[in-house]
Amino acid sequence: MESTKRKRVLTGIQPSGKLHIGNYFGTIKRMIEYQECSDLFLFVANLHCLTSLSDPKAIRELTLNAAMDMLSLGIDPERTYFWAQSDVPEVTELMWILSTLTPFGLMERAHSYKDKTAKGIQASLGLFSYPVLMAADILIYQADVVPVGKDQKQHLEITRDIALKFNHQYGDVLTIPEPDISEGVAVIPGTDGQKMSKSYNNTIPIFADEKGWKKTVMSIVTDSKSVEDAKDPDACNVCQLYKLFATPEEQKALAKRYRQGGLGYGDAKKMLLEKVIATFEPYAKKRAHYQAHPEEVKTILKKGAEKVRPIAQKTLEKVRKLVGIEY
Ligand code: ADP
Ligand code: TRP
Repeated sequence: MESTKRKRVLTGIQPSGKLHIGNYFGTIKRMIEYQECSDLFLFVANLHCLTSLSDPKAIRELTLNAAMDMLSLGIDPERTYFWAQSDVPEVTELMWILSTLTPFGLMERAHSYKDKTAKGIQASLGLFSYPVLMAADILIYQADVVPVGKDQKQHLEITRDIALKFNHQYGDVLTIPEPDISEGVAVIPGTDGQKMSKSYNNTIPIFADEKGWKKTVMSIVTDSKSVEDAKDPDACNVCQLYKLFATPEEQKALAKRYRQGGLGYGDAKKMLLEKVIATFEPYAKKRAHYQAHPEEVKTILKKGAEKVRPIAQKTLEKVRKLVGIEY
């Protein structure tokens, strides 16, 4: 008989600044949906954050901001495990144990260390062993599935390697996690037509007011066809972005109007703007509430840590016995 046990889905989010609609349709929406059909474990990776930031005030603020963002977008702390990484110190002990069986060469092959140091981030030991902390994050909660972006694929492979090695050496106690990588998710274009990314200054923010959204939507680059000209919906950024919000019927209707001519880009942008506002305004309102009540957010995170910590303690207890430090 097939097991009906709900899958444990776990992911960490690096608190790294303003979210945009590329993040939303690329990953966040999917993560929120996981709440419905699985046990979702979601944490703010503030220990990882220490590898690239050293301003304590910024780290505190970014941690709370990331939590506010996720809560506003629909993470329900009652139905999920939602906490800050640093509130479960067991994870760093497991990291140490795992690091003693992680081959140095495996770490040397990791792209992210090379990429980050090339970008000027200090080459610390913490940055080098970043993937081992990530492995500990995943393995301590016995996660079945880990949804991440393509850039994290190698980290998941490292996690699996470490877990297999541990299980082989000491006995089968760690769940081998499956990556869930959104290869199929289309790259969402930014206002200039390149991939929407905070590094390119071409984003439409999730959290803004009407003025903020209007400014970015109206700045989307189009070609110079006049109102009367027939237009190609597939070649237009406005239309590509509209599709993300629209029903299939609405998409067809807009594509038809593009091909017929008579619809100006200005009007198409207004249609998109309406969708953006209708979709994200409720989230922005919730976000403003949390911004004004940071204590509420801290309490949610602390309670989340209390709820999830026994799971970490249980795994660590087994591991401590197996490796021989429980004497
Ligand atoms: P950015 O490029 O703005 O720095 P991140 O690298 O922090 O974004 O991405 C966070 C998550 O959002 C990743 O999992 C990534 O797959 C997704 N994402 C980011 N930009 C896009 C985009 N333009 N289209 C689709 N998904 C995206
Ligand atoms: N490294 C991930 C990122 O940069 C964040 C992260 C930390 C993570 N620990 C994790 C993701 C565990 C998934 C599972 O996006």
